[in-house]
Amino acid sequence: MDKLAIIGGRPLYGEIPISGAKNSALKVMAASLLTDETLTLTNVPRLADVEMLMRLLDQHGARSTFDGSTLTLHAKDIVSTEAPYDLVRKMRASFNVLGPLLAREGKAKVSLPGGCAIGARPVDLHLKALSALGAEIDLDAGYVIAAAPDGLKGAKVSLPFVSVGATEHTMLAAALAKGTTVIENAAREPEIVDLATCLNAMGAQVAGAGTSTIMVEGVEKLHSAEHRVLPDRIETGAYVMAVGATGGELTLTGADAHLLGAALKVLEEAGLEIETNGAGFRVRHHQERCRAVDIVTQPFPGFPTDLQAQFMALMATADGTSTIKETIFENRFMHAPELARMGAKISVDGQTATVRGVRRLKGAPVMATDLRASMSLVIAGLAAEGQTMVNRVYHLDRGFERLEEKLQNCGALIERVKD
Ligand code: EPZ
Repeated sequence: MDKLAIIGGRPLYGEIPISGAKNSALKVMAASLLTDETLTLTNVPRLADVEMLMRLLDQHGARSTFDGSTLTLHAKDIVSTEAPYDLVRKMRASFNVLGPLLAREGKAKVSLPGGCAIGARPVDLHLKALSALGAEIDLDAGYVIAAAPDGLKGAKVSLPFVSVGATEHTMLAAALAKGTTVIENAAREPEIVDLATCLNAMGAQVAGAGTSTIMVEGVEKLHSAEHRVLPDRIETGAYVMAVGATGGELTLTGADAHLLGAALKVLEEAGLEIETNGAGFRVRHHQERCRAVDIVTQPFPGFPTDLQAQFMALMATADGTSTIKETIFENRFMHAPELARMGAKISVDGQTATVRGVRRLKGAPVMATDLRASMSLVIAGLAAEGQTMVNRVYHLDRGFERLEEKLQNCGALIERVKD
C-alpha cells in the first residue's frame, strides 16, 4: 500500500486548481441510467471512486469514455438491473443506482452498502422514499430487491432528518415517476442543486433545489445533455486549512468561496484572509498561529462534517482551545488519536472533541481509516516539524485529485512512497 512522506514546516505559496466535486460527480453519473441518450459531464475529477462507479455503470450497460476531465456516459440499453455486492460495498454512492434502474426498468436488485468506518450509515430513508413512490421492496441475503412493474408514482416524501443521499436518490427516482413528488426537509447542499441542474438539462422538471422543499414533476423521458460538475467545496476547504496550518498564500482557481457555507466565516474568524476574485479566490495567512474557534457540524449551510477532520488538524496548532462537535456521524473522530501521535492535545467525550492548541506538531508515522481523516493528517504533516508518513494513501486517492502534485507545485515537500 502506498504511503505519503511529508517533511513539514514549509509555507505554501502558489496556485491550486480546484477539481470538480466528487460527491456531485457520483450522483450525476448515476443520472446517466435514466436516459438512452448520451450524458456528457465536464469538470469530472479523476478519482478512484469515479472509476469504481464507471465500472458499476458499465455492467448495467452505460458505456463511458473519459477524456481529460470530460466523461461521456451512454446507457442505450440497460443490460443488467443487478448491482453486485463487490461493486457496491466499496462505495456507498453506488447504492444510488437503485432509484434510476427502478425508474427506467421497473425493477432492480442492489446490494446493501453496509456500514463504514465513520458510522453505521443505514439506507432506511432511501428505501422509505422509494416505497412512498410505489416501489415494492424486499430485503434478501444482503440485497434490496425492488419492483415497480407499473412505474413509480409521484408522492410526498417527508424526511425525518436531513439526508443528502436520500434527497438525491428520491430526485433521481422521481424524475421519471408519474405525477408530482414533493420532498420535505430536503438537504440543501450545493451538490443537490448541481444534480437538479443536471436533471433539468436532461429534460426533468425539478424545482426548489437548494431549499428544504423540492418538487419533481415526473416526465416520460429524459434526453441527452451536457453538464459541468460544480467545484469541490471540500477540496477547497482543505487547501484553505492547509494554508492556515502552514502559513503562506494560495490562489484556488475554479473554486467558489460561497460553497463553503458557514465554514467561510469560521475560517475568517480563525484568522485567514480570503479575497474572492473572478476565477476563484485567494487565501493568505501570515500570522504565526490561527485563533481557536468552536464549531458544530451541521447540514448545509452549516459547517460540513466533511471538513471537520481537517479543521481539527488546523485547531491542533491554533492559539487557544476549541471545541468541535460532530452531529452528523457517530464515529467520525478517528483522526484524533492519530493527531495526538503528532503531539496534538485532544480529548474526546462522546460527540465533542476539545482541542488545546500547541505551538508545533512533530512528524510521526500515522494512519487513517477514511478519506477526510487522511487529509487532516496531511495538513498536520505539512505543518509539523520533521517527517510524517501517512499510511493507507488509497483513502486519499478516493477523493483528492492529484494531491501530491498540487501541493508540490506550491512548495510542499510531499512524496508518494510505493510499496
Ligand atoms: C453524503 O453522504 C456524502 N457522501 C458524505 O461524504 C457526507 O459526509 C454526507 O453526505 C453529509 O454531508 C456522498 O455524497 C457520496 P447523509 P450520505 O445521508 O448521503 C444517516 C465523504 O467523505 N442516514 O446526509 O450518505 C446517516 O447515517 C463522504 O466524501 C440514515 O440514518 O449522508 C448520517 O448519520 C463521507 N438513514 C446522516 O443520516 C439513511 O437512510 C446523514 O447522512 C440515510 C442516512
